[in-house]
Amino acid sequence: MTIPVYVQGAWFIGALLFIFGLKGMSSPASARRGIVIAGYGMLIAIAAVFLIPGLLNLGLMLLALVVGGALAWISGKKVQMTDMPQMVAIYNGMGGGAAAAIAAVEFAKGEMHGLVATILAVLGALIGAVSFTGSCVAWAKLQGVLKKAWRLPAQNAVNVVLALAAIALGVAVVILAPQQPELVIAFFVVALVLGLIVTLPIGGADMPVVISLFNAFTGLAVGFEGYVLGNPALIIAGIVVGAAGTLLTQLMAKAMNRPLSNILFTPMVAASSGEAITGTMKEVGAIDAAAMMRYASKVIIVPGYGMAVAHAQHKVWEMTALLEEAGVEVKFAIHPVAGRMPGHMNVLLAEAGVPYDKIFDLEEINGEFGQADVALIIGANDVVNPTARTDKSSPIYGMPILNADHAQNVIVIKRGKGTGYSGIENALFYTDNCRMLYGDAQPMAGEIIQHLKSMG
Ligand code: TAP
Repeated sequence: MTIPVYVQGAWFIGALLFIFGLKGMSSPASARRGIVIAGYGMLIAIAAVFLIPGLLNLGLMLLALVVGGALAWISGKKVQMTDMPQMVAIYNGMGGGAAAAIAAVEFAKGEMHGLVATILAVLGALIGAVSFTGSCVAWAKLQGVLKKAWRLPAQNAVNVVLALAAIALGVAVVILAPQQPELVIAFFVVALVLGLIVTLPIGGADMPVVISLFNAFTGLAVGFEGYVLGNPALIIAGIVVGAAGTLLTQLMAKAMNRPLSNILFTPMVAASSGEAITGTMKEVGAIDAAAMMRYASKVIIVPGYGMAVAHAQHKVWEMTALLEEAGVEVKFAIHPVAGRMPGHMNVLLAEAGVPYDKIFDLEEINGEFGQADVALIIGANDVVNPTARTDKSSPIYGMPILNADHAQNVIVIKRGKGTGYSGIENALFYTDNCRMLYGDAQPMAGEIIQHLKSMG
């Protein structure tokens, strides 16, 4: 099919808008604009398809757009911020599945143009199919539909055998002509099973990294299928997504100090820390916590996963405003893997209206904890665990942490003695300068607000 030049031009404009959109997403201040720009790019790229002369099945295409668009609109409006990782997982899976489906249709038509296109179609199908079933498993785990970690006796050997079988079948599809339906079906079945088997043993908490990896896979698969279809917008969008996903995966693995191979092939063990923790956890009431902060000159707030679970961000911002009115300098310290997805805390705080200039990354703020009168930790645990610096047997050893323990006083809001995602005890909670304010983060922040108001 010949693509008219005006359609090619529209796709090129769409691709440029994707790139500008991605650039906008590099900062929280411009991220919303970036998403909108990329959205217009997508709109132009899709609308241009309808200008290709001689298209068949226009009604079906429109129906797919309406159904898909309506589902995405409704789910996008309804989704809770804490459920965002599974939403990203399922959308990403759809992208991978779509790339694999494009390849399947091209094989069925038997219209592959040359060896390069065939190889790329097979590669895109393999990666897309793995990403599809893997992302579905990731969604099911994060949504709590799949609670059990299924681990086969010789899991890694099974992974390798399946991967080799998928590659061998892919090579066979390339060599023995793509039209051989049994071969193509066997190839897709093995690729889909591979995605399932590789992902099933991975723990729910490691899923954000896995989703990011599958995101990179989907991008690559879409890019390859873009080549097969001769669609530059798909090629560019795929490459951009693939590169961004790869970088994000690397950043997350680095921030957790876990090699990617370890995340994929070794289950995270909730080990107890090898270093003996001394001291006791000391409780504090909301009124004393409020007073400690009200009469401080500098408070650094460290939000974590518990703040997201409790939806406490609005109360936290209200509390911050009251402290600032009383002349206290308040800053937010964000660990790169606080919460359960990249930028989790930044998004929540932005949603609550916290200005970006009060939010600092780990490298920017870590030197300031020594001058803080109070470090207020809200539902964070692993990201402030000092054993990460010293205990070589700890699963989080080497992970850079926020130096909350360097503050004069530390107040920790959490519901009880529950551990964080890594499952280990936090030595910080037992130190002399640390006080525990037990309770759900939202009502606790509410109580602090009431006391701050009564202190005037
Ligand atoms: P965590 O270490 O998971 O600790 C969260 C703490 O919040 C828990 O100790 C829990 O204690 C408390 N909590 C839960 N619900 C609460 C509520 N309603 N109110 C108050 N407190 C509540 O969180 P973190 O410090 O943010 O660290 C994130 C962890 O996730 C890291 O280990 C990181 O490697 C991992 N991880 C992050 C990502 C990304 S990209 N962000 C991806 C994968 C893994 P109680 O049960 O006692 O309340």
